[in-house]
Amino acid sequence: MLANRQIIMAEKILVTGALGQIGSELTLALREIYGVENVLSTDIQDQENQSDPYYEKLDVMDAGKIAEIVEQHKITIVYHLAAMLSATAEKYPKKGWDLNMDSLLTFLELAKEKKIKQLYWPSSIAIFGPDTPKNNTEQNALAIPTTVYGISKRAGEFWCNYYYEKFGVDVRSIRYPGLISWKTRPGGGTTDYAVDIYYQALEEGKYECFLSENTALPMMYMDDAIRATIELMQADADKLTVRTSYNLHALSFTPKEIAEDIQKHIPDFEISYKPDFRQEIADSWPGSIDDSVAQKDWNWKPKFDLSAMTEAMLGNLKEKLGK
Ligand code: NAD
Ligand code: SER
Repeated sequence: MLANRQIIMAEKILVTGALGQIGSELTLALREIYGVENVLSTDIQDQENQSDPYYEKLDVMDAGKIAEIVEQHKITIVYHLAAMLSATAEKYPKKGWDLNMDSLLTFLELAKEKKIKQLYWPSSIAIFGPDTPKNNTEQNALAIPTTVYGISKRAGEFWCNYYYEKFGVDVRSIRYPGLISWKTRPGGGTTDYAVDIYYQALEEGKYECFLSENTALPMMYMDDAIRATIELMQADADKLTVRTSYNLHALSFTPKEIAEDIQKHIPDFEISYKPDFRQEIADSWPGSIDDSVAQKDWNWKPKFDLSAMTEAMLGNLKEKLGK
């Protein structure tokens, strides 16, 4: 036990995009495991009220600064989260591609040169496209993405696999579904409606949804996503059969179904629908995911169903918003 603890405390972690929806929670979870001083949080934004002494401003497009930080802090493991998400990347396609691709290749090169020993990089259900089977989409289902974000994630998956196969780089990845959380607002995705709806239910008692009522998408509560990420990174390397990215499943629901679940707690809550450009993105993605390979390889199992998630979201947001 002590030996394990010493091995864990010897790691120095770098998180990029750490002020974002996932990074803000993953950083806290990693600090619980590895110690606060061993997890360096970085982002392109300024930190609010300068409260974290282990924060550094870092633009992941600056490969020189990344190399400097890795050397200076003797970083061993990187969680590279900084990216442009689906809805924003449709507005700035070239910028989205450059950010999502160049920064991944910088970290893969550092791993190839043995400057870091392990890399985590998230992919997405967005790698699938309109020709992909919609329900229980399998690990190796046809994946011809039609969004810039999806193209960048699919290409990134192939790069990860390439660096693993050619250079033995220990890179691990999950195709996250839409993630739902209350600590940090999401940043420019198509699944953001499933977070906004809880805020609006509490603040306004109504919500105008930018997707149509029967658009089913794969989703997951953040606690499950953080646990999955850490479990995958701590899994024995010889158990892992996927070095592109793992399918992961927890929930699948439509705007109508999440609204009905919220109405169990707030009976007067009203939803209306005004689909915008994000409808086309959502229509190109699967409705539910088959994650049997992740279950088999590293025993993945979600804990939160829709009603447990709604309870957790409303409970935590009530406190946060003083409702
Ligand atoms: P987010 O938009 O909430 O956070 C991204 C963070 O990256 C932001 O804090 C932003 O300031 C930072 N950033 C942007 N450009 C940067 C740059 N040049 N240098 C450094 N930092 C920069 O995103 P998120 O939801 O936390 O997503 C994290 C990762 O997970 C992304 O790779 C995303 O594609 C992936 N992902 C997220 C979801 C989801 O539902 N949240 C689903 C699938 C995959
Ligand atoms: N939640 C993400 C998005 O909507 C999926 O990768 O962009």
